[in-house]
Amino acid sequence: MRRILIGGNWKSNGDLNFIKNHMKSVINTLKFDTNKCEVVISPTTLHLELVRSLQDKESQVQISSQNVSAFPEGAYTGEVTARQLKDYGFNWTLIGHSERRQYFGDTNEVVGKKTKISLENGLSVIACIGERLEERESNKTMEVCLSQLEAIANATSDWKRVVIAYEPVWAIGTGKTASNEQAQEVHGQLRHWLSKSVSKEVADSVRILYGGSVTEQNANALINQPDIDGFLVGGASLKAGFKTIVDAYKNKKL
Ligand code: PGA
Repeated sequence: MRRILIGGNWKSNGDLNFIKNHMKSVINTLKFDTNKCEVVISPTTLHLELVRSLQDKESQVQISSQNVSAFPEGAYTGEVTARQLKDYGFNWTLIGHSERRQYFGDTNEVVGKKTKISLENGLSVIACIGERLEERESNKTMEVCLSQLEAIANATSDWKRVVIAYEPVWAIGTGKTASNEQAQEVHGQLRHWLSKSVSKEVADSVRILYGGSVTEQNANALINQPDIDGFLVGGASLKAGFKTIVDAYKNKKL
């Protein structure tokens, strides 16, 4: 059985006031069975320590950065390294989010470097892949997703610390969710590729999350697709409904 993972990607949202309220009214109220589910939230790098300090002692929610440097420590102004995150007690990072790919030059090569250095320094990663609308419309969905997955696979030394997030770019922040069938279709093919190109064991155990306009309305149906093992949630992770999305793990029929 694969443990469900629900990620909350806060992106560049939230000020001190919002974060204090959100931690108190939503994040610190999350209760889940850690044998069946894990929850990982990603505030900005600036707010990582704040979020940790605002967590209730008994909170099981884990904290992730949204990005990591592709470089080791040194003269790379503005970057935070994998070693620094780990040293500070943070165990997760997102890598290759489509916004990083679109605005910050995170090519497959960069994503591979970030994956490698993160794993080498003991972090777990949620590595994101996904096609743009024009790629879907020209039937390139799997070609694009598999080349992105391959770059991650080639950089991976320990699959136990890798989670894949399939996030069709056209579904991110647009209110257009992939249908259950569209999402399952891609997830199934990603797992098939892992089975062929890495190993059956890895294919059976790696979590593949879906991301792109997940809400409390569609979470239950999506989670019940056989190859969907959780979500990476953007906008809805900043709202009270995130609690309902986390609770969706209870409805997964195994
Ligand atoms: P969204 O974002 O849920 O707001 O569509 C998802 C993501 O970017 O991870």
